[in-house]
Amino acid sequence: MARVFVTRALPGDALDRLRAAHDVDVWEGSLPPHATELRERVAPCEGLLCLLTERVDARLLETAPRLRVVANYAVGSDNVDLAACAARGIPVGVTPDVLTDATADLAFALLLAAARRLPEGWRAVREGRWRTWEPAGWLGLELAGATLAVVGPGRIGRAVARRAEGFGMVVEPVGRGDDLLGALGRADVVSLHAPLTPRTHHLIGEDALRAMRPSAILVNTGRGGLVDQVALRRALEEGRIAAAALDVTDPEPLPPGDPLLSAPNLLVVPHIGSATTAARARMTSMAVDNLLAGLAGEPLPHPAR
Ligand code: DGY
Repeated sequence: MARVFVTRALPGDALDRLRAAHDVDVWEGSLPPHATELRERVAPCEGLLCLLTERVDARLLETAPRLRVVANYAVGSDNVDLAACAARGIPVGVTPDVLTDATADLAFALLLAAARRLPEGWRAVREGRWRTWEPAGWLGLELAGATLAVVGPGRIGRAVARRAEGFGMVVEPVGRGDDLLGALGRADVVSLHAPLTPRTHHLIGEDALRAMRPSAILVNTGRGGLVDQVALRRALEEGRIAAAALDVTDPEPLPPGDPLLSAPNLLVVPHIGSATTAARARMTSMAVDNLLAGLAGEPLPHPAR
């Protein structure tokens, strides 16, 4: 029986499978453990099941000499220092596929909300500014025939593309090595799905935002670090793009009073791409599968790459 630290209570019943085989310590707080608390709790453990809110770095690994497997409760792994884990021979697991549809749905919800100006419309109704049916009021983007640039056409990007095609949009996938600025210049909507790496950090910065049309919408359900938020705020304030809808920011959460929050035509939701009951339960199950395999000395079914 191995000792395992799970950094939050997780939805679904898969943790019971873990408890049946191992000695499981679950962090009961609703906020993440502080780095020092994380180090203390992981120190005696052979397994770690963590969230994207935890940094798994060389410093943490140093304090956990018995650690044999890390199961990240996310499809992304940018919170884990994969090189440091590999150097220690610690396999890292992730949760691909099971959140693809949930995240693509959310990307599309953000796209629609921004295209049809739902936050502004709702605010106007709530504030008593809905006075009549206005022929030229609340005009937005019609999706049929509009061009969607999918930056990072992996699993989630392709699932967004399928939804967009159903709405009659023209999809332009933008992968590594493609002409990003050219694609941004042609797009009515840009949706970000690239993984966050040193190469993609601030992929959407000043130049990229200047390449976009004044009528264009930016949607980000990937990682906050893909976008230079200072440049984004300027672009929104100067009307160089029409709107931005973000599920992810850098940092998360955005501190109250963060200058980005005062930008016009901005919608931010609290990183809920995978937040459906079904997807989160499947993520728990997959993370437990990874952990059980790692503790048994077997290859992880869903390794980070
Ligand atoms: C992930 O899995 O990487 C998402 O951002 C959270 O579900």
